[in-house]
Amino acid sequence: MEDILDILEETQYIKLFETTKKYQELMNRYRCAIMEVETKLNVLNLEFSLQYDRNPFESIESRLKSPMSIIGKLKTKGISFTEETLGKAVEDNLYDVAGLRVVCAFQEDIYHLADLLIRQDDITLIRTKDYIKNPKPNGYRSLHLILEIPVFLKEGKTMMKVEVQFRTIAMDFWASVDHKLRYKKNMANEEEIVEKLRRCASVIAGLDNEMQQIRTMIEESGADK
Ligand code: GTP
Ligand code: MG
Repeated sequence: MEDILDILEETQYIKLFETTKKYQELMNRYRCAIMEVETKLNVLNLEFSLQYDRNPFESIESRLKSPMSIIGKLKTKGISFTEETLGKAVEDNLYDVAGLRVVCAFQEDIYHLADLLIRQDDITLIRTKDYIKNPKPNGYRSLHLILEIPVFLKEGKTMMKVEVQFRTIAMDFWASVDHKLRYKKNMANEEEIVEKLRRCASVIAGLDNEMQQIRTMIEESGADK
């Protein structure tokens, strides 16, 4: 059990985000970074719809990590910090304070979009985790990119990290159901449930492949746009 002093200390740190300008500004920079990446994706969507008469993604969601999760994750990672160094600890060690989720109809669009984004010259790719080519043992599939993007404020430019998750509609369906189930504890038949979920993920991957094949067939059929 967590020590009561630990909890009190954590609460103090969480409060910093509400009460000090420095940490409100930090969160604002992450907000701006989300806006920048979202705009870039919307621009690509517009261009695609004009050129190919289709949208490369169905939806974008974004979220800012809560101060409670930020402090919790720093502690889990074993990173020590003080009131003074908290900001640096966050920027140096957490890559998902700013997060976007892009849901596409087809797998090919995921790679196409990700590639177009990475190639933009103000974006730096920090890390790729391709859980589509290499699914997690539980069956989770998505393409995760950690990007760095400049945010321009009146004091100048700062580079901010953003996590972008790309998935198909089907992978998104699986991930949200998995998310609903994963916090249930002490299930007697856990192994069987985990196995069933893994099987569902593999069925879904098969469906995604077939849907992709259908689209490719239609494109190659010479049908009218
Ligand atoms: P985190 O500490 O969770 O951020 O781990 P990480 O830095 O190793 O990142 P990873 O790329 O493994 O996963 C980051 C995010 O992907 C999570 O916060 C979830 O949003 C999502 N994710 C990863 N694995 C799963 C999973 O098994 N199920 C679901 N539903 N989401 C997952
Ligand atoms: Mg995360």
